[in-house]
Amino acid sequence: MAEEIAALRWDEPSDGGAPVVVLLDQTRLPVDEVELVCADVPALVRAIQTLAVRGAPLLGIAGAYGVALAAVRGDDVDQAADVLAAARPTAVNLAYGVRKAQGAFRAAVEAGDGGDGAAGAALAEARRLHADDARASARMAEHGLRLLGELVPRGGYRVLTHCNTGALVSGGGGTAFAVALAAHRSGELRQLWVDETRPLLQGARLTAYEAGRAGMPHTLLTDNAAGSLFANGQVDAVVLGADRIAADGSVANKVGTYPLAVLARYHRVPFLVVAPTTTVDFSTPDGSAIEVEQRAGGEVTEFSVPHAAGSGPGQAAVAYAVAPAGTQAYNPAFDVTPPELVTALVTERGVASPVTGDSLAELVVR
Ligand code: MRU
Repeated sequence: MAEEIAALRWDEPSDGGAPVVVLLDQTRLPVDEVELVCADVPALVRAIQTLAVRGAPLLGIAGAYGVALAAVRGDDVDQAADVLAAARPTAVNLAYGVRKAQGAFRAAVEAGDGGDGAAGAALAEARRLHADDARASARMAEHGLRLLGELVPRGGYRVLTHCNTGALVSGGGGTAFAVALAAHRSGELRQLWVDETRPLLQGARLTAYEAGRAGMPHTLLTDNAAGSLFANGQVDAVVLGADRIAADGSVANKVGTYPLAVLARYHRVPFLVVAPTTTVDFSTPDGSAIEVEQRAGGEVTEFSVPHAAGSGPGQAAVAYAVAPAGTQAYNPAFDVTPPELVTALVTERGVASPVTGDSLAELVVR
């Protein structure tokens, strides 16, 4: 079995040097497995914004370690927390992780702990979130696999997924990908259909990488080929993640999710969202209130290809123009799927189905 992926770690050099946050640089995958060392909050914010570290649960963990980093360095923790929380607006886990670590730091300060004690409290909170996420992954995989068995009773699942939701986004096995991996390990996965996920190709670069390492049967497709797969009856379930789930059950996830939900409904295919309860945000009332990150048009008008030679940290090396110079591009990073198109939400606490404000509240608040 391939070595487990460690997407992020806190490193305290044995020579007594300053601690750092070490990331597996996701902009360089699958060509190169290289680490990116973040020694301060600005470096970590750059890594978050360039998607060297990405995916909702991992962003929360990274944000919490970022606060710990600021505290250890003696930086202004509140200011660092604000900058970290704002680095990407849609994935609510980022702000959640940041505020949890900041809260632990403040509580320790108020309790009279000195700088080191308060920094230790922030770090302990980051470590706790990291470990919690690993446990949540395992529970989501169990619940998701059971649900697949109920919805697709003949087994031999052909599962379509979008973006990347595996160990690269988590302290554990991930969210939706962990369900597919559990199906594979139980001998029930016939096919993982991997959407390439334009424009940044998280499916092609990252999900295909993880599926290949795990020995899962998988096939890559362009996003616009998904419709023909449904039309040909080759999808038993859509299983994907979420970046924010509003109080009414609306799901923000990687752009391209909503069209899959519409396709799934038309073709009567179960559409499952897998996310930890930390992705549910009751302070966002509905889908229209979710801030959708808009990214640079160059991600659409150019192909950026990860390439080992000549690339710097957090950067893809080679960009090819695919549109005439000056072309305007529309590049939302996420879209919002209304709850009525979601068959079920799978969390570490169990399953909400149908997905409504009430079923969410019952699952998350109980
Ligand atoms: O822009 P990204 O790559 O951070 O987007 C990630 C996604 O949309 C994932 O599907 C989502 O975070 C769920 S990951 C468990």
